[in-house]
Amino acid sequence: MNHFETKAGVLSAEDLSLEALADAHGTPLYVYSAATLRRHARLMQEALAAMPGLVCYAVKACSNLGVLSLLAKEGVGFDIVSGGELERVLAAGGRADRVVFSGVGKQQHEIERALREGIKLFNVESAPELELIAQVATSLGKRAPIAVRVNPEVDAKTHPYIATGLKESKFGLPIDDAVALYRRAAIMDGIEVAGVAFHIGSQITALEPFGQAIDRVLALVATLRGERMNIRIIDVGGGLGVPYAGETPPSPSEYGKLVREKLANAGAEVLLEPGRVLVANAGVLVTRVLYVKKTAYKTFVVVDAAMNDLMRPALYQAHHHIEPVRSRGGSEIVDVVGPVCESSDFFAKARALPVVEAGDLLCIRTAGAYGFSMASQYNTRPRAAEIIVSGDRAQLVRERESVESLWRGESRLDPSM
Ligand code: LLP
Repeated sequence: MNHFETKAGVLSAEDLSLEALADAHGTPLYVYSAATLRRHARLMQEALAAMPGLVCYAVKACSNLGVLSLLAKEGVGFDIVSGGELERVLAAGGRADRVVFSGVGKQQHEIERALREGIKLFNVESAPELELIAQVATSLGKRAPIAVRVNPEVDAKTHPYIATGLKESKFGLPIDDAVALYRRAAIMDGIEVAGVAFHIGSQITALEPFGQAIDRVLALVATLRGERMNIRIIDVGGGLGVPYAGETPPSPSEYGKLVREKLANAGAEVLLEPGRVLVANAGVLVTRVLYVKKTAYKTFVVVDAAMNDLMRPALYQAHHHIEPVRSRGGSEIVDVVGPVCESSDFFAKARALPVVEAGDLLCIRTAGAYGFSMASQYNTRPRAAEIIVSGDRAQLVRERESVESLWRGESRLDPSM
């Protein structure tokens, strides 16, 4: 459920019309609904119910400080994959002791900063990374709490670019190799073996892969405990899908029921790392129609947003529902395309849309996750503004970039060169 509904003929974010917001702030414009974000955070927390655990939002899905601060206030922790994301969490008022640090390429300075801030857990993805964490922790006189991220070898049946739990994957370690690394970790200075972590992929629309993965990881936990390792955390990653085009993913409560059935008696704190499910349909991208271009073959609706603003269709052939903010009725088969000079710059192909004219606003739905956070400035296009709506109030949480800011830090070549 989300809070983008048509009121008096105009699509609205909570109590504010997207038309008024676009007029006030320009387009392309990302609009997030605070009520939807809060609702999703609570649903995921309820999924854990009485089990000891923490929802650690995957910051990469949407890393705006406004969104992070709202979630921090809801008691949510964070899953980060870079030092930059750690700084964002701290700037948003998040607590380091609720942060888990994932990612295959953690750098020394990032590890050091995370240790100084006292993060909750490092999810280790390789033997050399473990060595570096041990070395940095020892030099700081600390012990780093770690989990090894393992690949439970289940097929998440999702887009190949976002499936991560297979042995060919660059992420984590094959589950059969993990025990050896745990044995090494258990005797290292500067390391506290604290947990086991996995993440099998993203936009997963069935429960079975999660169940299979948990079963495999529980077998590993039993082995490790048999060797007197204190596994006090099980991190089940993220990956729960959302409906973009009629998919029927499990609800957070169905997902929670499975997690509780499998892990309530595991004697460990359970971490969830949801990204998409918290923010995807809490955000939309509003864009204005620049031209309707008719050729003998096709009708193109050229809009002012482009692949640099929302990359998912270009990168994953992802489907996003599109609708006019104020419908004129009728129906036409169109391609919705942006101004960027790439054939992959489209939001929809051969899609039936109500008739639109230049100047109309379109709303691209379910754009809150991996939308702005993957935006670029390709074609020297300033990145969009971001707004959070709460009831009848709107806050600009990111200004639209200025064109001049796009070459800040660059310089003309010195004539003597
Ligand atoms: N934990 C880890 C270690 C991850 O790598 C990810 C996402 C998550 C949690 C959150 O997964 P989620 O709940 O959002 O599925 N850009 C792609 C998705 C990439 C996902 C990367 N990892 C997209 O737009 O579909």
